[in-house]
Amino acid sequence: MKLNSWLLLISLTFGCNLLKKDSGSKNEDLLLLLALIPRGYQWNLPPGFPIPVVPAENPMSQEKVDLGRFLFFDSNLSQDRSLSCGGCHKQSLAFSDGRQFGIGITGEAHPRNAQGLANAAYHPRLTWSNPQQRTLESQSRTPMFGTTPIELGLSNDEYLSRLKADSRYIPLFSAAFGGGADSVTEQNVRFALASFQRTMISGGSPFDHYNFRGNTSALTASQIRGLRVFNGEVAECFHCHGGFNFTDTSFHSQNTTQEVFYHNNGTHTKVYYDALSIEKQGLREITLVESDQGKFRAPSLRNVGVTFPYMHDGSIMCDNNANPNHASGIAAGATNLTCARNALTKVVEQYSCGGVGAGCLGNSDPKHPSIDTTLIRPFTLTAQEKTDLVEFLLSLTDSEFLSNPSFSSPF
Ligand code: HEC
Ligand code: HEC
Repeated sequence: MKLNSWLLLISLTFGCNLLKKDSGSKNEDLLLLLALIPRGYQWNLPPGFPIPVVPAENPMSQEKVDLGRFLFFDSNLSQDRSLSCGGCHKQSLAFSDGRQFGIGITGEAHPRNAQGLANAAYHPRLTWSNPQQRTLESQSRTPMFGTTPIELGLSNDEYLSRLKADSRYIPLFSAAFGGGADSVTEQNVRFALASFQRTMISGGSPFDHYNFRGNTSALTASQIRGLRVFNGEVAECFHCHGGFNFTDTSFHSQNTTQEVFYHNNGTHTKVYYDALSIEKQGLREITLVESDQGKFRAPSLRNVGVTFPYMHDGSIMCDNNANPNHASGIAAGATNLTCARNALTKVVEQYSCGGVGAGCLGNSDPKHPSIDTTLIRPFTLTAQEKTDLVEFLLSLTDSEFLSNPSFSSPF
């Protein structure tokens, strides 16, 4: 209901009651009406960030966000109670999981890398390459109930009974949706998860302080030079990773249309993809159009310093001696930063070669025919410019987001 209609309702109801009721019940009526008015949700967005578009059937409320936070981290949402959404989406890694592929409850590997969830509120299409995944409200069905692959492996309503049996949940569901135990439904679970995920907004990185808050000392000289390389016509990065969210697939209250693009950035050759099963071939899996092989949504580069291994298949990772989670890495004093720096340098090498193949990156097969060669073509940067570009990418890490208690597990 529009605000005007609410005001009309208030004045009608309250006005009529004035004629026939005493002041005590008038106050009760007023309280009732105030409770009915949808409270505008306070986004508290970082400077430079537009208001996300929210589906009309699931308006934001703090109560749904609070419930969604519990559900996101609750292993009761998996059939064997061993895994939650948070098990594959870790806050310290900007809600990615650090593995090459997500691993579900049966140990089955997902065909793709677990994505970070920062600023998912602005993605008009979700997942690496499925244009049918349009809303956070429906996307969660896939990890909850999907069987190819099995992620959380839910196969019946037992999880709802478990939630009802946990004394925390009926009050949380009632506050979010009204209606006591009956409000513990599959749809309300998904809606609350969506509302919570929409609040995972990351806009406090050094880049944001520099760019949106006028703090000219937030970036180093190298990072400022790297920003120019990123936005320049030699490296062309900004064409696919542009805008406040560093991706060209974007939708928010200041867009009139949804911007949706899928690109082949040359991560693999056609020879390589042809040998893989269809679910590893990107957009082609859904459209069945051969030239869509190897096409993916350009990921947001926010927090890219913690979301390695990179690409849809986690194929770009740091060397073992730069990896803090590898035995030799510990010996070498490796940290997450050394790993990110090393892996991002490989990403830049791949782009500067115009993608894998035709002799680039040790691969003699032809380059993929679906590469958009106006944007992905060999370019030359000096060693300093490459370093600067990597340092700039590292300035997109928002440490406050990675530890903000609002997004951490309540358990
Ligand atoms: C087994 C690990 C795993 C679990 C558990 C899991 N996810 Fe994911 N998530 C992934 C992977 C892998 C992808 C990439 C999917 C794809 O490309 O098809 C992904 C993608 C997503 C995306 C799309 C992000 C984007 O940028 O488009 C959202 C949203 C998401 N997951 C939310 C959830 C929620 C909510 C839950 C719990 C109900 C959950 N995930 C459970 C592994 C997991
Ligand atoms: C033609 C569009 C396009 C251009 C230009 C482009 N990218 Fe990408 N980028 C993509 C796509 C698509 C992916 C995902 C590809 C995949 O998963 O196989 C990607 C992935 C990445 C990733 C991995 C992120 C992650 O979370 O896995 C990084 C880092 C990256 N790009 C940085 C850059 C930089 C730096 C430049 C400029 C040198 C650049 N990109 C230019 C489309 C592009």
